[in-house]
Amino acid sequence: MSDSFTPGPLDRDATVYVAGHRGLVGSAIWRRLAAEGFTRLVGATSSELDLKDRDKVFAFLAEHKPRYVVLAAAKVGGIMANNTYPVDFLSENLQIQLNVMDAALEQRVQRLLFLGSSCIYPKLAPQPIPEDSLLTGHLEPTNDAYAIAKIAGILQVQAVRRQYDLPWISAMPTNLYGPGDNFSPQGSHVLPALIRRYDEAVRDGATEVTNWGTGSPRREFLHVDDMAHACLHLLEHYDGPEQVNVGTGKDSTIKEIAETIAGVVGFEGTTNWDTSKPDGTPQKLLDVSKLAKAGWTARIGLEEGLRSTVEWYRAHQGELREK
Ligand SMILES: NC(=O)c1ccc[n+]([C@@H]2O[C@H](COP(=O)([O-])OP(=O)(O)OC[C@H]3O[C@@H](n4cnc5c(N)ncnc54)[C@H](OP(=O)(O)O)[C@@H]3O)[C@@H](O)[C@H]2O)c1
Repeated sequence: MSDSFTPGPLDRDATVYVAGHRGLVGSAIWRRLAAEGFTRLVGATSSELDLKDRDKVFAFLAEHKPRYVVLAAAKVGGIMANNTYPVDFLSENLQIQLNVMDAALEQRVQRLLFLGSSCIYPKLAPQPIPEDSLLTGHLEPTNDAYAIAKIAGILQVQAVRRQYDLPWISAMPTNLYGPGDNFSPQGSHVLPALIRRYDEAVRDGATEVTNWGTGSPRREFLHVDDMAHACLHLLEHYDGPEQVNVGTGKDSTIKEIAETIAGVVGFEGTTNWDTSKPDGTPQKLLDVSKLAKAGWTARIGLEEGLRSTVEWYRAHQGELREK
C-alpha cells in the first residue's frame, strides 16, 4: 500500500469529479455516489467540456479542485466501430485519459479510479483471465488500438503511484449492461443489440430473429449498478498498482443469453443462427478472485438485470443514443 492511503469510507462532503457522467458507467457511478450521500458531485458533458481540449481540462480541474476522480469518459464502441476507426479509438482515448490524469496530478487528486476494459488482455490469455496476464501476449487485432490506449492508462496510474505516491487505482470491468446503455445499431455491444433486435421483433410481430454466429461463445456480463458498487468499494478498500478485474466470475453462452432476453421481452418466435458470420473468441471470462479478496462480489443476477434493462430501454424510446 502507498503511505498516503488508509482503507475506509471516502469523505462524503469532498468534491468528486465523475468524467463521463452521462455514459453507461459514469451515470451508474453518479447514481451510486448520490445514493451513498456524496453531496458534491461534478460532471460535464462532452459538449460542455471536450476532454481532448487539454487547456480546458486543466482549467476545469483547477476550478473544481476535486479530491476524488472517477475516469469513466472514453470513446467506446462495438467490434465494428473499433475495427473501422482504430485511429479515433487510439488517439481520442489517449488524449482524454492523459489530459484528465495530468490535470488531476496538478491538483494532487487524492484518489483516482481509471476504468479500462477486459480487451487489454491477450487474445489467448488463460481463462478465467487473471490480472497478471497483462502484456504476456498478442492482443485481439480488432480492438488493439483501444486496448493499447487503455494499457497506457494503467501504466500512467502506476507511474503516478511510483513517482508521486498518490494512491490511484485502475479497474477492468467485464462486459457491462444496464440502464443508459448504447442501443444504436452502429455503437452497441452484443447484449443491447440483442435486446433491441428481440424487442423490435415483438413490436413488429416478427416470427423469426436471426443472430450472428453459432451462439456458442461464452461471455460474462455484469450489471452496471453492480459495477458502480464495485467501483466505490475499490475506492474505499483497495490500494495497489495492479488493475483489478471486475466481473461476476460466471459466463453464459450467447445462445443462453439470447433465450433469456427473448423470454424477458416476450418473443415467442424462432431464433436462427447465421453460422456464416464469425463467432469471435470462444470464451472470455475474468478471474475475479482479487476483487473477492478485496471484499466484493456481484449481486445482480442476469435475468433480474435484463428485466430492469429492458424496462429502461422501453421507457426511453425516442431519447436513446443514435450512435
Ligand atoms: N460498456 C461496457 O461494456 C464496458 C465494459 C468494460 C469497460 N468499460 C469502460 O467503462 C468506461 C465508460 O464506458 P461506457 O460504457 O460508460 O461508455 P459510454 O456509455 O459511451 O460513455 C462514455 C462517456 O464518455 C464521455 N466522453 C467521450 N468522449 C468524450 C470527450 N471527448 N469529452 C468529454 N466526454 C467524453 C461521453 O460523454 P457525453 O455523453 O457527454 O458525450 C460519455 O458520457 C470506458 O473506459 C470503458 O472502457 C465499458
